[in-house]
Amino acid sequence: MSIETASYAAYVVAGLLFILALAGLSKHETARVGNQFGILGMAIALVSTIALAVNGNHEDPSGLEPIGIGLLVAAVVVGAAVGLWRAKVVEMTGMPELIALLHSFVGLAAVLVGWNGYLHVEHDAGRDAAHELDAAGLLGIHSAEVFIGVFIGAVTFTGSIVAFLKLSARMKSAPMVLPGKNLLNVGALVVFVALTVWFVLEPSLWLLVGVTAIALLLGWHLVASIGGGDMPVVVSMLNSYSGWAAAAAGFLLNNPLLIITGALVGSSGAFLSYIMCKAMNRSFISVIAGGFGIEAGPGDDKDYGEHREIQADDVADLLAHASSVVITPGYGMAVAQAQYPVAEMTKKLREKGVEVRFGIHPVAGRLPGHMNVLLAEAKVPYDIVLEMDEINDDFPDTDVVLVIGANDTVNPAALEEPGSPIAGMPVLEVWNAKDVIVFKRSMATGYAGVQNPLFFKDNTQMLFGDARDKVNEIVAALGADEVARR
Ligand code: TAP
Repeated sequence: MSIETASYAAYVVAGLLFILALAGLSKHETARVGNQFGILGMAIALVSTIALAVNGNHEDPSGLEPIGIGLLVAAVVVGAAVGLWRAKVVEMTGMPELIALLHSFVGLAAVLVGWNGYLHVEHDAGRDAAHELDAAGLLGIHSAEVFIGVFIGAVTFTGSIVAFLKLSARMKSAPMVLPGKNLLNVGALVVFVALTVWFVLEPSLWLLVGVTAIALLLGWHLVASIGGGDMPVVVSMLNSYSGWAAAAAGFLLNNPLLIITGALVGSSGAFLSYIMCKAMNRSFISVIAGGFGIEAGPGDDKDYGEHREIQADDVADLLAHASSVVITPGYGMAVAQAQYPVAEMTKKLREKGVEVRFGIHPVAGRLPGHMNVLLAEAKVPYDIVLEMDEINDDFPDTDVVLVIGANDTVNPAALEEPGSPIAGMPVLEVWNAKDVIVFKRSMATGYAGVQNPLFFKDNTQMLFGDARDKVNEIVAALGADEVARR
């Protein structure tokens, strides 16, 4: 069997492994093995692609020259070293921004592949490759692939960079609202379609420069126009774009595995975005169109009155006398790494006969399933960790709710203030409980940058400080109470 045939057979195996990886990743019980399928598939894909490049195929039997092999090895070694290092040091809370940055690389790669395709074929009509495509009547298709690939890649590149900047708080998370922003987006798409037709009929360097510039600006604008609260959808949407960009590169490079993988990533990312939009009551079209129809909310100068404070000992007392407690964790629990003392507190309260459950908002934290992962890590039993829809009706019968580092996901403004940037997003209706204790360090806003009227309600008290320290104090106070009773 020739190396070429073996490589294509390996591509089929890798494609199947990627499908198994996606299936495995859809449930947390099978996620680990899903990940292993993905790693194996990628290893097979890398080895067979390198073997094919080094040996050449029937279209280009010469294969890589020694200098090409040297460059390939250098790129793989440097890429692997940087990837391993980043994956080792990244904090769980930093995962979404790392993912956004990785999407930007896929976008950039698609742009470079597209440009290379143009320089290799259309730009140099004297070359064999151009003659062959022209003779087969395929030159127009090649030009369309170049143009579309560069467009999707450039939108993904700058869009992902803005997402990275917003997620890592290097850029304000509030939506940028340019006058006529919807018109700008639609206008860019219309110009892109017109330029594609032009380029297919008459390829030229200037058209390619033009579409690259338009797509870079469009990607930036699309993501900059989306508010912080909608970022989860944006990250999965860019994941989808990066898949389509990879598929476009696959067409140009004549690599079937890249087309399969790109389509898998593109469609699963689109499906995840759709699920997230449904969970957050957002219109899918409005988010992919860069916040189409979403206008800037009112300023945050509304006076909600005074807030009340409480100390850890008093919270411990309240908890010890409660019969039902619900904990709603958020991003702050992840920052403080408070899941371990929270698990300890839960254990202590359950031993005292207090019913303790967790209410998890679908976008709490910074990545899908973030809170579930943290609680599982701290060995909180799965059966007391409930989804938002499962627990929302139970708040009126709950004695105490502990809001640990959550803000946007428990903000009543989403339901009560139609002009708010988070209006319409379903939230955990914690304020319906008898007492609400909010753990945070200050009166600062959450990720979406909007004030939270929950903090000023009559049944809410604020416990200021690092969530981990405060929960530890409560655990200590609960322990002291046990000693006193012995
Ligand atoms: P956020 O609205 O982000 O609020 C977190 C709160 O935690 C902040 O108000 C902060 O207040 C507090 N905090 C931070 N560090 C703390 C610490 N060490 N100790 C105690 N408190 C601390 O949280 P959320 O309710 O989980 O909402 C998530 C937000 O992120 C939503 O807007 C969501 O759309 C967005 N988002 C989610 C995802 C996914 S997929 N889940 C992805 C991207 C964006 P202080 O600074 O005053 O302490």
